[in-house]
Amino acid sequence: MKIAFVGKGGSGKTTLSSLFIRHLAADRAPVVAVDADINQHLGAALGLDEEETSVLPAMGAQLPLIKNYLRGSNPRITSAETMIKTTPPGEGSRLLRIAEDNPVYDACARPVELDGGPVRLMVTGPFTESDLGVACYHSKVGAVELCLNHLVDGPGEYVVVDMTAGSDSFASGMFTRFDMTFLVAEPTRKGVSVYRQYKEYARDFGVCLKVVGNKVQGQDDIDFLRDEVGEDLLVTFGHSDWVRAMEKGRPPRFGLLEEHNHQALRALRETADGSYELRDWQRYTRQMVHFHLKNAESWGNAKTGADLAAQVDPSFVLDESWASTPQPA
Ligand SMILES: Nc1ncnc2c1ncn2[C@@H]1O[C@H](COP(=O)(O)OP(=O)(O)OP(=O)(O)O)[C@@H](O)[C@H]1O
Ligand SMILES: [Mg+2]
Repeated sequence: MKIAFVGKGGSGKTTLSSLFIRHLAADRAPVVAVDADINQHLGAALGLDEEETSVLPAMGAQLPLIKNYLRGSNPRITSAETMIKTTPPGEGSRLLRIAEDNPVYDACARPVELDGGPVRLMVTGPFTESDLGVACYHSKVGAVELCLNHLVDGPGEYVVVDMTAGSDSFASGMFTRFDMTFLVAEPTRKGVSVYRQYKEYARDFGVCLKVVGNKVQGQDDIDFLRDEVGEDLLVTFGHSDWVRAMEKGRPPRFGLLEEHNHQALRALRETADGSYELRDWQRYTRQMVHFHLKNAESWGNAKTGADLAAQVDPSFVLDESWASTPQPA
């Protein structure tokens, strides 16, 4: 299951992503955690110290390796140089599974020990000014989009992405890559304005979007969120002393997180799991092709000097049957 946490800066995306990841790990579910936010804090929120986070490999720096692995022997993708962030898989491409060893994880993922067991952590690396344009050939988030477009995942295993609700994810199609998008919102006008913008983009793409209230202090806050977002409000988190202690570098055992926050995490899990029956691999593949053609035309063809529309394999549909198909050599 592919799960995104998005929202306004400072709303609590990283905090709630990390709690959700801890919740899944405590249940011994396979998890790949991905930090794709401008501010790279997921490692720290999962308990790594400064030295440990400073040596995490950046996916953005491994793009050639990622592209070369994923394109495999796909005859429509003749080089890593012509592979852009939206290039879809086809016959001969290599696909990724959540619980496997592969060269992409070897290069980009590091294990993080949590209560319950280890998860894999991947980070895009810090963004620079040039990463934030719309036509980003070297986009660090592009590495994540490529991986999601080549991932065959099933129920009970999770990719959790801590992500910015920025223009990059809308231009590239990244925002359509998830079974469930949790939009973290504080009970403020700014918090819900990001929700409205996201909802607007999401409307035509069948994106499952739920609002998770954070830093909610009382009934008035809940009423405000309910008035503003209606049925899309899934659950709310209050101030957490457990999170505060963690921020001080003294993480208590995860079991000691406040019960109402545990309950909220269970609701997120149920909602994420429930979205499985809405999954539509045909649509998922169609959308990646749609955004690839859009990116090819708007900048990719010019940038690579190739006709990137020719990379589309018209008969290929990504789906779970590929999970049991041997990878191309
Ligand atoms: N429920 C909570 N209880 C206590 N502290 C919280 C809670 N949620 C978030 N915080 C604190 O608020 C601050 C911002 O949270 P966080 O870093 O998760 O937000 P973010 O949306 O990821 O921000 P950014 O946009 O900077 O990445 C952090 O110091 C975090 O510890
Ligand atoms: Mg963050």
